[in-house]
Amino acid sequence: MEDKKAREILEHYKYEQNQLIHILQDIQTEYRYLPRETLSFVSRELKIPLSRVYSVGNFYNAFSLKPKGRHLISVCLGTACHVRGGKRISEEIERVLNVKSGGTTPDQEYTLETVNCVGACALGPVIVVDGKYHGQMTSAKAKKLLSAMKDSGGNGKNGKNKKS
Ligand code: FES
Repeated sequence: MEDKKAREILEHYKYEQNQLIHILQDIQTEYRYLPRETLSFVSRELKIPLSRVYSVGNFYNAFSLKPKGRHLISVCLGTACHVRGGKRISEEIERVLNVKSGGTTPDQEYTLETVNCVGACALGPVIVVDGKYHGQMTSAKAKKLLSAMKDSGGNGKNGKNKKS
């Protein structure tokens, strides 16, 4: 099946097999995951075995073979965040969004995941929303943040930017 967006990405990388990781990164950015049909298309166009395309897709954590929501919420459960209540925060978010960690809400708005240390332990507990770090998190603050996101359809702009 022709995939116009994937075609543009392949053209950008001049169909070079050694650009496979970059190609998959761009596809992931475009679709927020790696659709099965697109991977088959890439495999055919680059003349790379599908098994190899999948093995790259499976190897890197940044890639997802399952659809993700418009907003990605990552709750840190690394040691520093865990001991400061990270688990309670993740449970609160699960409750508010009615989705289990690792899952996506049925409206495809939110994907919730837990991660191990995002490198900002001093700010813990930390959650990362669409790439923005929110430190000294509490269940109440998480609830407020989600409610602000739902109200604005935004991405929690009030949080701190990337760790410094
Ligand atoms: S353990 Fe959460 S940022 Fe390091």
